[in-house]
Order: sequence, then structure tokens, then C-alpha cells
Amino acid sequence: MDTKKKINRKVSVAPMMDCTDRHDRFFLRLISKNVMLYTEMVATKSAIHGDRNKILSFSPEEKPLALQVGGSDKNELAEVAKIAEDMGYDEININLGCPSKKVQKNKFGACLMKEPDLVAECIHSMVKVCKIPVTAKTRIGFDDVEDFEYLNNFIHKLRDVGTKTFILHARKAMLSGLSPKQNLNIPKLNYNMVYEIKKANPDLEIIINGGITKVSEINDHMKFCDGVMIGRSIYQNPYSLVEIEKEIFKTNDNPSREEVVKKLLEYLDDEVKKGTKVNHIMRHTIGLYHGQVGSKDWKRYLSDNMMARDSDFQKAKHIMTIVQNNEKANQVSS
Ligand SMILES: Cc1cc2nc3c(=O)[nH]c(=O)nc-3n(C[C@H](O)[C@H](O)[C@H](O)COP(=O)(O)O)c2cc1C
Repeated sequence: MDTKKKINRKVSVAPMMDCTDRHDRFFLRLISKNVMLYTEMVATKSAIHGDRNKILSFSPEEKPLALQVGGSDKNELAEVAKIAEDMGYDEININLGCPSKKVQKNKFGACLMKEPDLVAECIHSMVKVCKIPVTAKTRIGFDDVEDFEYLNNFIHKLRDVGTKTFILHARKAMLSGLSPKQNLNIPKLNYNMVYEIKKANPDLEIIINGGITKVSEINDHMKFCDGVMIGRSIYQNPYSLVEIEKEIFKTNDNPSREEVVKKLLEYLDDEVKKGTKVNHIMRHTIGLYHGQVGSKDWKRYLSDNMMARDSDFQKAKHIMTIVQNNEKANQVSS
């Protein structure tokens, strides 16, 4: 019997370094109760030897939450899987898709697509030590390999050792010649490859990722896949999660932007008392008014004040005033 807890992965927010830290996740969770959240990638060595409280702790409100890990040492990965489970994470996800040079040097991320046996050993060691799902996030290929058979065999290797959920970024990774940013844009999206994988593996949970921005696109992909993962467009426009809540999860008690900020300021208050800098929280809210009247004022205000290293808590109070003014302006204009 499968004792693993069922997680709703219809829509998840992608792991993004320097973006989806615990403050961002807390903020996103204020907007959406139903999306699945992922941490930024954490290297196994940092998780094991680093300041665990700083690197791995999270607020219970962020759940359901997956820890994304980067590594290729099976013992370290097993240790981190156990740590993740003990800390209350709902899933552990291995990064097999990052093409950056630094990540390659440490032998994790997309270069591991070349080593299916090694990845299978790693996953096997993780699955053995924990009950939470061990999932994989990978690309559809690498360099000149963009081949259904290769990807399908890779997935089967991991399935055979216990991974049932695959997040497929629908573009290949170029392991040399492109910067990480170019690697998110230049290799062409190939959604069909992901659809074909789902078709060939109906028992696996296949989550599609890459370039998805609209609810209509989510609905289209859901005809062929089990869920979608969205990165940049949610970071740039976090309040778009409300539309996802309404249209995909059919919720109708969603908070206004003002309510979100009010709750975030309570969190900010607590966090500042613990020594967190205001800008570490508020920087994630730059896109809150995306597409709204006053969004430029909001962005300007944040960049003038919140990005300053010596930001003090009083500035948050000013922000509250701006939010309320913006909210009024929006009400007047709508
Ligand atoms: C700033 C940034 C940081 C990222 N960091 C990670 C990461 O830590 N782990 C990971 O698997 N993917 C990472 N990615 C890739 C995203 O998870 C996602 O696969 C990619 O952005 C494509 O989805 P999108 O088109 O919806 O943004 C990152 C992407 C961006 C833009």
C-alpha cells in the first residue's frame, strides 16, 4: 500500500534561486492556499553542514512545501531526505535541470541527465530513508540530445527506484555556450515531448513547466498532463495566483491585495523583531500591483526604500499607507 500522502500538484510555483525563499513563500501562501510551493535549490552540503535554521526552516503556513535539493552523493542525498522529512517538508525534489557552470562543477543539476544510473542510485538511497515523496525536476534533454527514447528511459530508471512524480521543464539544457538566463529562453519549448511522456506513462504524475503564464494555458496543458509548474510569471505577477485559485481550484474567498499586505505586515513585524531586514521580505512584493493603477508608485517606493541595506521597520508603515492609497485608486478606477 502506498502510504505517501497525496499532494495536490495541479499548480505549483517553481523553485527559483534568490526568489522563492521562505519570505516569498509566506507571501505567496497569503495569496494562494492551494498551489504547491518549492524552496530554492539547496545543495546537500549546505543542508547538512550549514546553518540549518537559516537555510531550511520555514513557517508552517507555507505548507504544502517541497525542499529542492542539489547533489549527486547518495549518502548526502539520503541524509537530506531524512532531514527534510523530520523538519516537516511534504516532498523532497532533486534538481536535474539546472545547467549553470557552478552547478555542473559540483556535479548536480542538468548534467546528471547524462548519468541515469547514478541518479537512480541517489534516488534509491533517498526513497529508502523517508516516507515523503521523492520527486525529480528535469529538462527534456541536454546539448544535442532531445530524444523521446532517451528521456523515457531516464524516467523509467527513476520510476523503478521509486519516483512517481516528474516535473519536466519542456526545453533542453545547453550545458555549454549559454548562460543560465539564456538557458531559460533560447532552447525551444517542446510541450509535445512532455505530452508524449505522459501518454506513454499514464501511471506517473507528469507536471509540465516552462513559459506558462495564463489560466487558459494551464487548462490546455491539463488536458495532457497532471499539473503545471509556473516560475517567472508568478514571481513577476504574484496576485495572478488569485485567478488560478478562482479558475483552477474554484475558491471564491480570495483576499484583496490590501488584505495580503496587512497580513504580510504582521509577519514583517514579527520577523523584524527576530532580526530580518525589511527589504528581505518586501522585495518579493514588487510585482503585487502588476498591471494596476499605482503599480509604478509601488515599485518606485519599494526600490527607493526597501532595497536600502539600512531599511528600518518604520518604512513598512509608509508602505502600508501607499498600499491603502493604491487600493482606493484601484477601486475608483474599476
Ligand atoms: C531566477 C530563477 C532561479 C531559478 N532557480 C531554480 C532552482 O533553484 N531550481 C530549479 O529547479 N529551477 C530553477 N529555475 C528554473 C525554474 O524553476 C523554471 O524551471 C523555469 O523558470 C521555467 O519556468 P517558467 O517559464 O515558468 O519561469 C530558476 C529560474 C529562475 C528564473
